[in-house]
Amino acid sequence: MEMNKWSGKAYSQRYYEILEKRKSLPVYAQKQEFLQCLMSNQTLILVGETGSGKTTQIPQFVLEAVHENHPSKWLVGCTQPRRVAAMSVASRVAEEMDVAIGEEVGYSVRFEDCTSSKTVLKYLTDGMLMREAMTDPLLQRYKVIVLDEAHERTLATDLLFGVLKRVLSNRPDLKLVVMSATLEAEKCLEYFRGAPLMKVPGRLHPVEILYTQEPERDYLDSAIRTVVQIHMFEPPGDVLVFLTGEEEIEDACRKIVCELGDQVNVVPLYSSLPPAMQQKIFDPPTENVRKIVVSTNIAETSLTIDGVVYVVDPGFAKQKLYNPETRVESLLVSAISQASANQRAGRAGRTRPGKCFRLYTEKSFNHDLIEQTYPEILRSNLANTVLTLKKLGIDNLVCFDYMDPPAPVTMGRALNDLLDLGALDEELNLTRTGEMMSEFPLDPQMAKMLIVSPKFNCSNEILSISAMLSVPNCFVRPRGEAQKAADEARARFGHTDGDHLTLLNVYHDYKQNNGDSNWCYQNFINHKAMKSADNVREQLVRIMSRFNLKTCSSDFTSRDYYINIRKALLAGYFMQVAHLDRTGHYLTAKDGQMVHLHPSCCLDHKPEWVVYNEYVLTSRNFIRTVTYIRGEWLVDVAPDYYHLSNFPNCEAKRVLQKLSKKRDRAGNPK
Ligand code: CDP
Ligand code: MG
Repeated sequence: MEMNKWSGKAYSQRYYEILEKRKSLPVYAQKQEFLQCLMSNQTLILVGETGSGKTTQIPQFVLEAVHENHPSKWLVGCTQPRRVAAMSVASRVAEEMDVAIGEEVGYSVRFEDCTSSKTVLKYLTDGMLMREAMTDPLLQRYKVIVLDEAHERTLATDLLFGVLKRVLSNRPDLKLVVMSATLEAEKCLEYFRGAPLMKVPGRLHPVEILYTQEPERDYLDSAIRTVVQIHMFEPPGDVLVFLTGEEEIEDACRKIVCELGDQVNVVPLYSSLPPAMQQKIFDPPTENVRKIVVSTNIAETSLTIDGVVYVVDPGFAKQKLYNPETRVESLLVSAISQASANQRAGRAGRTRPGKCFRLYTEKSFNHDLIEQTYPEILRSNLANTVLTLKKLGIDNLVCFDYMDPPAPVTMGRALNDLLDLGALDEELNLTRTGEMMSEFPLDPQMAKMLIVSPKFNCSNEILSISAMLSVPNCFVRPRGEAQKAADEARARFGHTDGDHLTLLNVYHDYKQNNGDSNWCYQNFINHKAMKSADNVREQLVRIMSRFNLKTCSSDFTSRDYYINIRKALLAGYFMQVAHLDRTGHYLTAKDGQMVHLHPSCCLDHKPEWVVYNEYVLTSRNFIRTVTYIRGEWLVDVAPDYYHLSNFPNCEAKRVLQKLSKKRDRAGNPK
């Protein structure tokens, strides 16, 4: 009997079933060729159609090769741009290898490490591998690194290109496999000079592309209508609909169920969906029931769903955008690229000829859509990137080997922000604070807020707030009858001074009720989000204690309890402050952007000054998670940033001027 060399047990029935399927994947036919190529090259580039088996099979091939030649415990790492993909693929591969997830095969994503000392194959987000490089600059634990989904050109993947190139020249024994669906292969070949390109021939069936005659006014409506029509008039075959985010997807799912009832099996797919629900998209089909998957971009290339014959593509996705002038980074629903549209269409032709319904005109495809999505490095705030690269010892950020260099103005802005936060000194070297900030897996402002919170005697509370801000929204808001009850429950947690303190109230109540799931249910609180917040908090506590930052609280009955917390918030987020002008509008301090309080905001009045956690661009400019602060504090907490000499002329400046005069008078009586 054949034994599983990892577990030492006999293979299960399921193992053999999956093995048959694996053998039919296109990459399987090229296993030997791949292994030879791997043996004779340090870097190799592999391009193959989505669904050809790259992500699930190639790391296993690598593993076989590595463990034949190196019996010791070497790790193979495979990066994914998305945490959902890392988790889902790791589970799948553990199943394929007939081992328990977290043992020989594991995953690591921000705030969640599911690996053990036994782990030999690890799926991890590209961001996590960057973090690992910060403490292990030569990535000594790895024998082979697979950079997957390179065509997505996420910020972290782009940085890894440069970092790994350096590591490879210092470690001749390390190998790199770059994998991608479409990739501008030439660019990659040029970048990794000398690396061979291996192509896995696709076995795509023809996909008929149908455009709308006229532009659609409401793509959500039109998507739902199209699904209903497909179901009524097209032969059997599953449907994949691309929408932009959780709320929209849940909304669409409800409406489709409403129209078609149980003739169809409607499955949502987005990143904050619990893993068990995500797994449902891979459930084997039920006879005579059409499966309709409504998904974000995840299903474009990261996850392959078998059985899809029809694709509905409204042509939009949420994309990160950054404007260095206004310093606003936001996720914006925007038109996809032609390359993305073609990837989406391809999803229809995996098993047999399919159809793709594009909910835009052919003219629009040709003239309005850009050819390729811009790499994320050109669309992001780079403050975190600079911090990481500095920590990696890369001092000259201009000479770093970027595949696409970032815009100088964006780079300048990042350096400025880090100077303002005290992370860099005048020579642009990391300060002690900067060193510490780089070790928090958080944005620089939040890291700064945590680091200074002991000085405000409220690090316990700031830890809780940071944890709550790092997990998905904890408030559940069902549709229909329960909605009112949910809103009332939410209002009970409301704090008059703002949303950050409301989140703190939720966390405290949750802890007081010992993390009881019933309590969560009754109060319309998402239990899973709370459990992750608890977990995140623990991890942040560990980082704090590594730096001897004490955990402390002010006396709860003291007047200063909430004031201290609000000041600490400001000490991190002083760049995200808005001032109410005489016309009743908020303008962001310094940048003068008009913004509105997000509808979810718990404030029942409009304070003159607020600090906000996030700028959300939708139909209007919203600031979300907002807390009331006092103008006087700005000068105390961030004297340099709010120094009047470097302030543009605006109403906020005049108010600050008055405040500082008043302060001087009070401070130095003549
Ligand atoms: O990476 P690539 O797009 O080339 O393919 P893959 O993700 O390795 O997927 C290969 C096959 O595994 C597809 O047919 C998937 O449907 C299947 N798969 C699965 O059944 N369950 C998963 N959780 C992941 C993949
Ligand atoms: Mg893949």
